[in-house]
Amino acid sequence: MKIIIETERLQLREFVPDDAQSMFDLNADPEVIRYTGDPPFESVNQARTFLENYADYEKNGYGRWAMIAKENQEFIGWCGLKLIEEGLIDLGFRVFRTHWNKGYASEAAKACIDYGFNKLGFDEIIGRVVAENTASVKVLEKMGMQYWKNDICHGFENARYYRISKESNQNLA
Ligand SMILES: CC(C)(COP(=O)(O)OP(=O)(O)OC[C@H]1O[C@@H](n2cnc3c(N)ncnc32)[C@H](O)[C@@H]1OP(=O)(O)O)[C@@H](O)C(=O)NCCC(=O)NCCS
Repeated sequence: MKIIIETERLQLREFVPDDAQSMFDLNADPEVIRYTGDPPFESVNQARTFLENYADYEKNGYGRWAMIAKENQEFIGWCGLKLIEEGLIDLGFRVFRTHWNKGYASEAAKACIDYGFNKLGFDEIIGRVVAENTASVKVLEKMGMQYWKNDICHGFENARYYRISKESNQNLA
């Protein structure tokens, strides 16, 4: 099991196939996937196959990472970086509803942004969100991300794109 980042309360580690039940349960909550464009997994086995075929770590050297509570090793959700169209690096996150509003996504997102700039050498990281997804907008704005443009994302015509540069991130308090 490869731990990539540690924060005060969290470990961010690479996914493993045994995360299948957690990933199935996470995406089985309609509120969690409401603004993501993802359908739920049809079965735990389908989630396992997804994890077995998840190639981003090997292909790009980074990806989405499991968010694990240090205190009890509970799978809280995931957060991480993804190479998308036109070489853009996208920050994404998803948390079990039982753990919303405890600051976990913000804690993990900040660590991923710092890792992206300082360890992976990116110049810019973006975030994409549906405007109605208030919590997600809040997290991106708390990261110091600035509104960039509206564009299509995962089937949502009018998603809001945010971005932050390495320099702006360094200038944050
Ligand atoms: C988006 C998501 C990951 C946030 O996770 P989280 O761990 O609850 O986030 P945090 O606790 O770090 O921050 C949430 C912030 O939104 C605020 N918030 C939550 N719901 C809100 C609402 N309805 N109106 C206004 N603010 C709201 C919280 O108060 C908090 O801000 P604060 O720290 O200033 O108080 C979580 O809601 C989620 O999993 N959503 C479903 C998946 C998803 O949409 N992912 C993003 C796709 S772009």
